[in-house]
Amino acid sequence: MHAHLDWFSYLRTQGISRRGFLKYCAGLASLLALPGSAAGQIADALAARRTPLVWLSLQACTGCTESLLRSYAPSVDTLILDYFSLDYHHTLQAAAGDAAEAARLAALANGGYLLVVDGSVSSGQHLNCSTIAGRSSMQVLAETVEQAAAVIAVGSCAAFGGLPAANPNPTAALAVEQLMAQGSIPRRPLVNLPGCPPLPEAITGTLAHFIAFGRLPALDALARPLAIYGRTLHDRCARIHFFYAGQFAESFDDEGARKGWCLYKLGCRGPTTHNACMTLKWNGGTSSPVDAGHPCIGCSEPDFWDGGGFYRQSSPVGPGVSANEEASRGQVLFDDQCVYCHEPDASDLDVEPTGLRAAYEQRGGRAHRTELSDEEWADLMKYLETTR
Ligand code: SF4
Ligand code: SF4
Ligand code: F3S
Repeated sequence: MHAHLDWFSYLRTQGISRRGFLKYCAGLASLLALPGSAAGQIADALAARRTPLVWLSLQACTGCTESLLRSYAPSVDTLILDYFSLDYHHTLQAAAGDAAEAARLAALANGGYLLVVDGSVSSGQHLNCSTIAGRSSMQVLAETVEQAAAVIAVGSCAAFGGLPAANPNPTAALAVEQLMAQGSIPRRPLVNLPGCPPLPEAITGTLAHFIAFGRLPALDALARPLAIYGRTLHDRCARIHFFYAGQFAESFDDEGARKGWCLYKLGCRGPTTHNACMTLKWNGGTSSPVDAGHPCIGCSEPDFWDGGGFYRQSSPVGPGVSANEEASRGQVLFDDQCVYCHEPDASDLDVEPTGLRAAYEQRGGRAHRTELSDEEWADLMKYLETTR
């Protein structure tokens, strides 16, 4: 694809200037929380290499691919995909049947490609619910992972099971990470990019990072890039001052909704959802569900679908959110710092909230990344009290 053109000539044919591309690379560096100097390295790597990419779509709705290609005008995001050596992609490839399989096998023979997977995988007695060229998706995935340099699980289906795995999970659908953990497929470096679908920048940013630096970006305990999934929506929401002021929309068309008040009572999962929708936004930075007046339904969290009704507030005050400001700040802190190792509802902490700081200091705070101020400790303890 476009093999006869160098990268900059190719961009020019698509109406994107060299300056525009360099600006885009600076944006990618900032998205990935890298120093500004990394922008040049990303630009050089993207311009110089056509990294082979194999993309398997398993039990998926194609929404994840659509997310990446959604732009009404060519964007650098989509062009990057175009400029990859996209050796195999179920949805995008022109080849079909034997020719498509031959392309996958040729990529396998060369090895060293990046493997992108969207969709989850049927297993057990339901192995043949999802097949490719007469073989189960599990078999095809296992042999494709074998030769991959790294695996990128795109979307909540590939990362956590998603919709196909929702109760009663008729195909015994599993996520890529679960399959690696149980030994059904080989272990390879893995990054999860959940979301239904994920933000396109999460996909292109992760690909660009791998090409430029030869490794995956820093990840959290759920293998999600920290730079994108490291904070909750709530923490970066423009409506948060309404949350603290106790001003909530009670229905979709009441006065509060019209005034842009907090959507928490309409079931917003922003306080427990880690994603960058509030900063990167959707459709080229235009808007987000919450900006448009719709509560976040938590599409990038592991309990999406089975985690409760979408438009219901989960408890009188919320999913672990206290009515007062200190405890709310404490929850933001917990979601930012603690949730990577501890249960989201803090139920696995073996000390009472009041004894938490002493226990932390006694045990040397090992494995903890951040020192907290006195005020932050107080907020955290207030929040934990509300969870008991
Ligand atoms: Fe479709 Fe959502 Fe699954 Fe992506 S994560 S394949 S958009 S259901
Ligand atoms: Fe924003 Fe939702 Fe948090 Fe309200 S609950 S501040 S709408 S993220
Ligand atoms: Fe998903 Fe919530 Fe963003 S529903 S798209 S994480 S606003």
